[in-house]
Parts: sequence; C-alpha cells; structure tokens
Amino acid sequence: MDKKFFIAANWKMNASLAFIDEYFASLRSESENSNEMIICPPDIYIQSVKEKAPSFVKVGAQNISHHDSGAYTGECSGKMIGDQSAKYAIIGHSERREYHNESNDLIRLKLLKAIEHDITPILCIGESIEQRDSGQTLDVINDQIRSVLDSEILSANTNMLIAYEPIWAIGTGLTATPDMANEVHAHIHTVLSEMSSNRIPILYGGSMKSSNAKELLQMEHIHGGLIGGASLDASEFLKIYNIAEEIRNG
Ligand code: PGA
Repeated sequence: MDKKFFIAANWKMNASLAFIDEYFASLRSESENSNEMIICPPDIYIQSVKEKAPSFVKVGAQNISHHDSGAYTGECSGKMIGDQSAKYAIIGHSERREYHNESNDLIRLKLLKAIEHDITPILCIGESIEQRDSGQTLDVINDQIRSVLDSEILSANTNMLIAYEPIWAIGTGLTATPDMANEVHAHIHTVLSEMSSNRIPILYGGSMKSSNAKELLQMEHIHGGLIGGASLDASEFLKIYNIAEEIRNG
C-alpha cells in the first residue's frame, strides 16, 4: 500500500521570533518531500512561520473558535486562521479538553467551523491511564469518535486527520508500543468504516521521537505523527520527517 505520511509539529505555547529564525535556518529538506510536513505554532506566529518555512511546509493552528466573530476575548475564528493561510487546525487536544473544559459537543462545533472554512481538522482523541488500566480504551475512543463525527460529515469526502494521542504518553517520555498504537488505530478505522467509506489518515501522538518513529510509522494503520516536545528541535523533527520519506520511498 502506498501510504502518504503526515508529520505534524505541535509547538504548543512555545517559540519566539528568534526561535523561528533559527529553526528554519536549519530545517532544509533534501528529500523528495512526498509526505506532508505540518507545523502548528501559536496563532500569533502563523505568519512568521509561513514567511520563514520552506514552501513545502504547511502551517496549522492549535485551536479554532466555534464562533464566527464577536465578543469572545482571546479567540480566533476559522476565517481569521484561514486568512493567515493556515491549512490545518488541531481540534480537541487533550490539553484543551483538560485545561479549557472542551467537551465532545464543543469539539464537534469547532470541527464543523474548520470544515466550513476549508481548514483541515486534526481531531485528537485518546484515553487516560485510568481508562487504559480499566480496559476501557476502545470504548472511550468509540465514544469520542461517534460524539464528534457522523456519516454526514464523513461522507462529504471531508479532508480530515485524526490523531490518536494516549494522554498518558503525551510529554511523559512513555510511548505506546507500536502494537498497542496499531491496535487502537485499527479500531478507529473500523469505527470510521461503519460510518463512511472515506478513508481518514490516523496519526499517532505521544512522545514520538526519531528513536521510535520508524517502528511506529511502519505499522499498517499509522499514517504519521503529531509531535510535541521532539518537534521543538528542528533537526530532530526533520529526522522524523526523513524517516517517513525513507519508508515511503524505500
Ligand atoms: P509530545 O506531545 O510529543 O510532547 O508527547 C504530543 C502532543 O501533545 O501533541
């Protein structure tokens, strides 16, 4: 199967103008760029990243408002994000679910706004350690998918990515083993295929780095990575991207 990879950086609330200058001075890809590299900086740096990044790099936001405009202090709408030429938006990251009380209902509204503005959502789902330890992982994933997506959204051939991010693996240095991740990704594919024939790429997120990327990306149901900590180092992030290039191009 020819599998296109999506290698996405989630910078979270990190970076500065000086960081961006330095980052892109060293991020030069010699490969064929047959896969997609995506960088999601804080909104305020979307333009700076667009200006400094090589042209093959796509830019994304880390969130999107479910409103169009108005008295919503601190928010950015889908139109505003699209105006900055961002092509992607991370939606429903576990840090937003936890620190900003984002529910599946709200995440669904945000996802619909992204689609309305031609921004490809990167929908994040994943279980906590308590849910995993009590054997609820697949049920939690099932609920998260079905409460946000439906066959209408999916069958419109919507461009979308899903990121499976086990919460216990985010920023902890613990990674799901390739088999553990692949099992959940396969389950996500099964749930989605019950709703639509639209085949959505599923990225893995949670302490992915160059030392574990190869074994994860080689798994059948893993189509890329959403990378936090390791994406803040340009050479490390480029290594992960190049691993995806090697797997795809042999
Ligand atoms: P991490 O973060 O790579 O630092 O674990 C991933 C994410 O939160 O998207």
